[in-house]
Amino acid sequence: MAKKIIFPENFIWGAATASYQIEGAWNKHGKGESIWDRFSHTPGKVSNGDTGDVANDHYRLWKKDIRLMKQLGLKAYRFSAAWPRILPKGRGRVNQKGLDFYSKLVDGLLNAGIRPFVTLYHWDLPQALEDEGGWPLRSTAEAFVEYADVFSRALGDRVKDWITFNEPACSAWLGYDIGEHAPGLKDLANGTRASHHLLLAHGWSVPMIRRNSPDSEVGITLNSNWTVAASNSALDLDAARQGEGKWVRWFADPVYGRGYPSDVVADFERLGALPNGLDFIEVGDMKAISAPLDFLGVNYYNRDLKRVDDPTNEPQKIFLSPKTPENWTEMNWENYPDGLANVISRYYYDYQPLKIYITENGASYSTPPDEKGNVPDEHRTLYLRTHLAAANRAIQAGVPLAGYFVWSLMDNFEWAKGYEQRFGIVWVDFDTQKRTLKDSAKWYRNVIRKNRF
Ligand code: FCB
Repeated sequence: MAKKIIFPENFIWGAATASYQIEGAWNKHGKGESIWDRFSHTPGKVSNGDTGDVANDHYRLWKKDIRLMKQLGLKAYRFSAAWPRILPKGRGRVNQKGLDFYSKLVDGLLNAGIRPFVTLYHWDLPQALEDEGGWPLRSTAEAFVEYADVFSRALGDRVKDWITFNEPACSAWLGYDIGEHAPGLKDLANGTRASHHLLLAHGWSVPMIRRNSPDSEVGITLNSNWTVAASNSALDLDAARQGEGKWVRWFADPVYGRGYPSDVVADFERLGALPNGLDFIEVGDMKAISAPLDFLGVNYYNRDLKRVDDPTNEPQKIFLSPKTPENWTEMNWENYPDGLANVISRYYYDYQPLKIYITENGASYSTPPDEKGNVPDEHRTLYLRTHLAAANRAIQAGVPLAGYFVWSLMDNFEWAKGYEQRFGIVWVDFDTQKRTLKDSAKWYRNVIRKNRF
């Protein structure tokens, strides 16, 4: 029999979700419109015209969902708050009903013995702020601090684990540069300004959260593929440098006090994205952005193997393993567990975070319930098992990994892909809102119970 893989005592076993992906109730009880409401209501933006209007109806079914978490034995639950539920216009008037929802959710979790990890921003910017210009404007960062203040004052007595932002790289690049996510704009210059203001909002809010929530821990969640050159050719090596530079170092370097990486500044200059240089940086900004953190959250999904076959072509992502469900998830993302250990080790050796949590890791497979009502999602279980084994190897090698949050607690609205991609360890029938534990959830429940597998 294979050797047992044992996790440290007090390892935090969790599952993650995000507000827009599960809550629904997009315009209920005074909630303002978000950029994802607007984006998904715009024809052609999301597969099949799907929206998060109802999603998992979690706004109504949250008690049932806490029971589900309890059934799984989760020690922690990572969820995000919808800014426009709290401040419908992004700043100014507070919607008490929105605060009440999260307050009841947090009380429910604590009563169930589940530790709430709150992400303040998982992509649903109030549309009113986007109408003014969104993240490319400094005033959006100022508004975020107001929101972080209101929220952490209301819940800071009970929430002790805070994540300011989820994957600011995705907000900046997918939202403002590539246009695949809300607000769907395509301009690297704007994306670059957005990235600075996302980071600034993060840095400004850290001391504020600490003030409002005594004895709490505060961090940020960054994402990373394991980005590597397919060969030692100068072109491939440079493509990997650029990709990793734009998606990882551009965010992690300033957060850890190194300022923006000069090679990426040069890339952006060459691409015409800095017509006025770094004029958006004001005195004190870089210091604010590098506010000391208690932990780093890392989201890891797959490998990005960079190949440039011809100097006139853009870098391609290439695939080396055969396209079987064991090797490939339905997102067309590779199952590459070593990448998880590599990514967290890289973050650790580059930046020495005091502690790391894997705040997301998981796989999309659409395996439906069978006649008996079981969901035999063996490929997801394989993905989770191999990634947890890699996480364990990193721990043995000295990386201070303190917890793991599977993405996701349940199937949900997968952004531009809508409901066609299912990442949940719990099956959701979106017509009836029935939740069913998949086989992977039963496997995960056992791992949690025994702290090993
Ligand atoms: C991450 C997002 C998360 C989910 C997964 C699949 O980038 O943070 O909301 O959509 O991808």
